[in-house]
Amino acid sequence: MNMLILGGNGFIGSHLVDRLLAEGHNVRVFDKYEEHYRKPVAGVDYCVGDFGNRGMLSDALAGIDMVFHLISTTLPKTSNDDPAFDVQSNVIETIFLLEQCVAKKIRKVIYISSGGAIYGKPSSLPISETCPTEPECSYGITKLIVEKYLALFNHLYGLDYVVLRPSNPYGSRQKPDGIQGAISVFLGRVAQGKSLEIWGDGRVVRDYIFVDDLIDGIYRGAFHNAPSRIFNLGSGIGHSINEIIDVIRKVTGRQIDVVYKAKRSFDVPSIYLDIYRAKQELLWGPSVSLIAGIEKTWLFVEKLYR
Ligand SMILES: NC(=O)c1ccc[n+]([C@@H]2O[C@H](COP(=O)([O-])OP(=O)(O)OC[C@H]3O[C@@H](n4cnc5c(N)ncnc54)[C@H](O)[C@@H]3O)[C@@H](O)[C@H]2O)c1
Repeated sequence: MNMLILGGNGFIGSHLVDRLLAEGHNVRVFDKYEEHYRKPVAGVDYCVGDFGNRGMLSDALAGIDMVFHLISTTLPKTSNDDPAFDVQSNVIETIFLLEQCVAKKIRKVIYISSGGAIYGKPSSLPISETCPTEPECSYGITKLIVEKYLALFNHLYGLDYVVLRPSNPYGSRQKPDGIQGAISVFLGRVAQGKSLEIWGDGRVVRDYIFVDDLIDGIYRGAFHNAPSRIFNLGSGIGHSINEIIDVIRKVTGRQIDVVYKAKRSFDVPSIYLDIYRAKQELLWGPSVSLIAGIEKTWLFVEKLYR
């Protein structure tokens, strides 16, 4: 099939490129930038442009069967700085995308939402897809609005779609010098012999999913023929920051100094996802253990700083 990956040169998108090629699909990538860690991949049709460039986006949709929408112009941490920009660049431009998908008879849209930002403070744990959604940042709100427009376009025009809500993915090609992705950032600092700075006492619990497992869930989501349209994709297990640091010590064999700083008011103490629905309907489940995933990620990160 002919696949378009919006944001295909980013961390998750680059792994999706590999999986779709391995499955024998034709892959086109639409992204603002080139891949950070690799040269262009043979066989991929690259369109370099901004999501807001409607002419280019419309051209990129020509001949496409499925669209994987991985572009987000904001991050949870920064999105509250300019909510109007968040809405304009993510929601309004996605509505244009959906209109184009209807006009061009695209078979299905696969949307990468967020399992960490749309629920807000969990009312119960693990969080299932039916739990209340009370996002506490603009990023979470715009993800949720896009989910609602997908449902509306399905209702009005029959546009097929699936929504995947990942927890905290980690793995190769996630930027260790970025502001997202605790495991990669920690490994990057360890590789440089730097100390780790932790907000609070390290007991904040999150759900970490290795990127290959996430990609498998996205792929199954694209081809599933099940009743649900929204799926959490996580490990289903909560790990504290202190536990993560212990595993990193074990994997790297390095001496790691940890500096504990004042707790941040917006950090939810504990959040991990209920993945029962994806297990039942997508026949999906994570297969890479935390230690094996961190080992694989360390192999990538350590090389960057040699
Ligand atoms: N990494 C995470 O922790 C995480 C967790 C849950 C959901 N998600 C979602 O998954 C998707 C992919 O995330 P990622 O971690 O691979 O991020 P990433 O930043 O590595 O990749 C996103 C890609 O989108 C591109 N992009 C951004 N703005 C663009 C624009 N205006 N026009 C064209 N391209 C643009 C970037 O150049 C980048 O290559 C995002 O929608 C993100 O919100 C990520």
